[in-house]
Amino acid sequence: MKEKKLWGGRFSEAPSSLMVRIGESISFDKELYKQDITGSISHSRMLRKIGILTGEEQKKIEDTLKLIGKEIESGKFEFKIENEDIHMSIESRLTDILGDLGKKLHTARSRNDQVSQDVRLYLKEEITNILSLLFSLLESWLEKAEKSVDIVIPGYTHLQIAQPIRASHYFLSHFWANLRDFEDFLSARERADELVLGSGALAGVNYATDRNFLQKDLNLGRISENSMDAVSQRDHILKFLFVSSQFYIHASRFCEEIILFSSQEFSYFKLPDSLTTGSSIMPQKKNPDVAELIRGKTGRVVGGLNHVLMMMKGTPSAYNRDFQEDKIPLFDTVKQVKLAIEGIREMVSGLEIFPANAVRSLRSGFSTATDLADWLVFQKKIPFRTSHEIVGELVKHCSSRGWDLFTIPQGERGKIHAVLADPGYEDAIVLETSCDKKNVPGGTSKPMQKEQLKNAKRKLKELEKRFQIQSSKGKKNV
Ligand code: ARG
Repeated sequence: MKEKKLWGGRFSEAPSSLMVRIGESISFDKELYKQDITGSISHSRMLRKIGILTGEEQKKIEDTLKLIGKEIESGKFEFKIENEDIHMSIESRLTDILGDLGKKLHTARSRNDQVSQDVRLYLKEEITNILSLLFSLLESWLEKAEKSVDIVIPGYTHLQIAQPIRASHYFLSHFWANLRDFEDFLSARERADELVLGSGALAGVNYATDRNFLQKDLNLGRISENSMDAVSQRDHILKFLFVSSQFYIHASRFCEEIILFSSQEFSYFKLPDSLTTGSSIMPQKKNPDVAELIRGKTGRVVGGLNHVLMMMKGTPSAYNRDFQEDKIPLFDTVKQVKLAIEGIREMVSGLEIFPANAVRSLRSGFSTATDLADWLVFQKKIPFRTSHEIVGELVKHCSSRGWDLFTIPQGERGKIHAVLADPGYEDAIVLETSCDKKNVPGGTSKPMQKEQLKNAKRKLKELEKRFQIQSSKGKKNV
């Protein structure tokens, strides 16, 4: 005879094999076992407080739930798909051990508020872990930037060489993007930080559930205002998936640059061997797989956001079984975000820079053509449009003869325009000088790099203080 379901009273037939197979979520939601046990322990304490359980009964339930947690951790726990999900698996084991007492735990609770609470607890914890990892990535960007203030590399627009920049400026550009991610993950964590227990199936419960007690016991930021909304919405998941997608989009852009700049044609960067793989046929190959995989996983993570958005679309108020599907992209995204943060951090800290190759491109790419045009404006009082035209001619002349701005002979320059033969020409095209002329706040000059580094460090310190993250040496508690 098939086992009777925990909800089986009104049924005269057991669920079909199809119903079991399509309905189970235990294959993936066992991930929530810790939060389910934590939530159930608090719920049992609240039931004691309002007189539904005696002190002794509550203690037995709490001890047994902890024991079940240990069974799951040690691999002894037997998960059966007939139990559908993690909530019923734990409850049915509790009843196996405690008999009728176990059956009291689900008083004043529905799986609808239970699952919503579990996921919120899970998200709070995991976002905290993600924040710790992200904090150390921010430290890595800073460290790299500090070491590379004196290296000049090409800055691109349209992937065409544009102007020289200090490498620190480049690394800091990624620092600020990830800092925004950090702040946005924090805000996603706040979204999740809510007590929903007491909402029941959708309308609240017929018991004097002490929600203030539960809020304190579970250390949650606030209590949901509307029971329907509480079991109905998945905004905290959506927000987390959006911020994860944003992080991944940032990561994928950096990965693309790593892939490009470590290729033979650029050779500005070299990745440590440990983050690359060889080819089974071509002995010379060293492939930037970590960067490529993170770039590839971006599709998966953004797909996860789309998955939950589409899953929610048009669902009527309160709980729908559709929502069970939210956990698949959620758990996967948590794992992928952690992997990517670690991957980027290792690539950043292990990245070797080859300044001479960057200078080669800066020269052949006419990167200081704008500086030359500006020199004509400042020193020779030539209107900018005219100076732009003169330097354009010069570039054209160089290109057709295989020269760059540094190698073209003085006489040849004079042929384009007399002022280009002026001795001031040489100073006007120096790469470092080009950077240092961008001495506006946020610019790439050396003094502004120092300023930016100072601001970035101050911002990190603020975050460290605000969220009690200890420095990279110690453990971080966000
Ligand atoms: N496994 C379910 C989920 O993840 C739990 C809630 C089930 N609720 C229900 N009324 N069937 O969504």
